[in-house]
Amino acid sequence: MRIAVLNGPNLNLLGSREPAVYGRASLADIESAVRQAAADRGAEIDWFQSNHEGALIDAVQALPGRADGALVNAGALTHTSLALRDAMLAVHIPFVEVHLSNIFAREPARRQTLLADLAVGLVCGFGAQSYLLGLEAILGALRDA
Ligand code: DQA
Repeated sequence: MRIAVLNGPNLNLLGSREPAVYGRASLADIESAVRQAAADRGAEIDWFQSNHEGALIDAVQALPGRADGALVNAGALTHTSLALRDAMLAVHIPFVEVHLSNIFAREPARRQTLLADLAVGLVCGFGAQSYLLGLEAILGALRDA
C-alpha cells in the first residue's frame, strides 16, 4: 500500500506554532512516526507539505497511479478551498482527513470542512496521534475495500 500524506499551510511550523493548540511535535517528528508505523505495516509513505494552494492541488492531481490512499491535513485550506475540494473530487483517491486540533471545538469558521464529506472519515483532536490513527484508518479501509 502506498499512502500519500498531504500537509497544508503553516504545518511546517509545528513544534513552535501555538504549542498549546498543536503540541510540541515538529512536522518532521510526525513524519518519522508515520513512516515507522507504515513500515511496520508494510506500507510506503509519500510525504508532502506546502504553504501554497496550487502546489497542494498539483500534488493531489499527481496521486492517481502513485498512491492507493491518502491522509490529508489541509490546514486552513480545509475551511476555504473549493479548489482543493474539486481536486479531491477529480482524483477519486480514498482519503482520511486529519487534524491535530479538534476543529469542531474551535472558532465557527474552523467547524466547516470542505473535504470531510468526500473523505472515508475524519480524525481530529488527538495531536500528532491523529496522523497515526488516520494511518490505521486508511490502511484498514483500503484492506476492506
Ligand atoms: C489544523 C486545523 C486548521 O483549522 C488550522 O488552520 C491548521 C491546523 C489542525 O491540524 O488542527 O493549520 O488543520
